[in-house]
Amino acid sequence: MKFSRHWAMPNRDTFSVPPIGDFVRGYLAGSKVSVDPFARDKRWATHTNDLNPDTAAEHHMDAEAFCLMLAAQGVRADCVLFDPPYSPRQISECYKAIGLEVGMKETQNAALYARVRTAIMPLLSDGATVLSFGWNSAGMGVGRGFELVEILLCCHGAGHNDTICLAEHRLPPAKREPTLDL
Ligand SMILES: C[S@@+](CC[C@H](N)C(=O)[O-])C[C@H]1O[C@@H](n2cnc3c(N)ncnc32)[C@H](O)[C@@H]1O
Repeated sequence: MKFSRHWAMPNRDTFSVPPIGDFVRGYLAGSKVSVDPFARDKRWATHTNDLNPDTAAEHHMDAEAFCLMLAAQGVRADCVLFDPPYSPRQISECYKAIGLEVGMKETQNAALYARVRTAIMPLLSDGATVLSFGWNSAGMGVGRGFELVEILLCCHGAGHNDTICLAEHRLPPAKREPTLDL
């Protein structure tokens, strides 16, 4: 597993942080079909989405519904970018920015991550890579049949959380944990 640590100024547009942008572009360079369910203004992936209609993404749906729609259309991706809001507060800000009601249920980041990660699964081709960004290193995980291949830790200075960037490869069926395969 590759590990690196870089220092860079923080930016709300995650992929505009230079080492993180390089990390994403490196994986997209080897990809034929990619999906970004939380894209904001980045049109780097083949299929882009963001809940906020004032962003440059191609679609403006909830990330889970977007992934399920693509899967139903027969899209199979070899690279998926997973860059959601990182905290309940950030989720609340995203929802309020577009005039949506937010309660305890909507702002649970673990619940958002779980339902979107589950919706990503039918989209993936064999050997696909999922890149995850946030404040923890849980990622897709072994339970979904993934192997961690790279961690990039991006330090933004005192008082800021690091951005933890993961690359995980989906293992072939024979190498997945049989009891945990989803
Ligand atoms: C961390 S930002 C993505 C930044 C982007 N990767 C970049 O580099 O510029 C997260 C985005 O997710 C969007 N978002 C929040 N909740 C969402 C949801 N349930 N479905 C789809 N998009 C959502 C927000 O509007 C926000 O633009």
